[in-house]
Amino acid sequence: MTEDLTFNSKMAAVYEKNTRISIPTYNSLFAMIQSYYRVQLGEKAASLLLIGAGGGNELSAWGPSNPGWTFTGVDPSEEMLKIAKHKVVELGLESRVSLIQGTTDDLPKTHLKFDAASCILVLHFIDDVQEKLKLLGSIKDKLKSGAPFILVSAYGNHDESELQARLNVWKSFWIDAGRESSEVDEMVRSAITRLSLLPEKQIEELLAESGFMKITRFYSTGLFAGWICHTE
Ligand SMILES: C[S@@+](CC[C@H](N)C(=O)[O-])C[C@H]1O[C@@H](n2cnc3c(N)ncnc32)[C@H](O)[C@@H]1O
Repeated sequence: MTEDLTFNSKMAAVYEKNTRISIPTYNSLFAMIQSYYRVQLGEKAASLLLIGAGGGNELSAWGPSNPGWTFTGVDPSEEMLKIAKHKVVELGLESRVSLIQGTTDDLPKTHLKFDAASCILVLHFIDDVQEKLKLLGSIKDKLKSGAPFILVSAYGNHDESELQARLNVWKSFWIDAGRESSEVDEMVRSAITRLSLLPEKQIEELLAESGFMKITRFYSTGLFAGWICHTE
């Protein structure tokens, strides 16, 4: 194994572990999404658009067990894409995966519309509400009519006690995994308070404003929730 691959294996392992501490139901989340896609997409070949494909978790969760699916992933982070590329090679998915460093703006203009899309753990990193709306609208434009879209994001209102209560639940995941309470408080200060959170209702309004319909929250764990919706 080359030094670069070894480095990426370590990065991937850390990312894998930490995501599952932060979201203890992470594996179930991906299994639920897979079930929904499978029923919606049926047996035929399908193209999936992955927003924030860095890290490769969507690819490793859905790639091997759905040989009829092809994946186009976008992510601006070179480091996160390196992890994804490492997984693609490890799992032998090269012929069904295309990874693009960038955003939806960088997708090839000639690409046919996609059968389904996901945007998992990305929206809360986009600071501006208009930018969030632009992203959701650009995803909708890339999908076929009736296509399913899955959005998973942290949500809430930084000023409300409801979020503070969920934050305590989230902190308990890390403390129970062996982290010092002071270390977890520092993670909240340096990372969580910087997330750009919207209340659930506003996220649903943004999805509707972007042109999505049948908006249903299907998932919630700690700081995060997931919505299923469809293009018209
Ligand atoms: C926490 S990771 C989640 C990765 C993956 N979806 C998962 O669940 O493991 C968030 C990813 O979103 C990417 N990202 C941030 N802004 C983005 C944008 N506008 N379009 C696509 N990806 C973006 C980041 O670079 C990062 O790799």
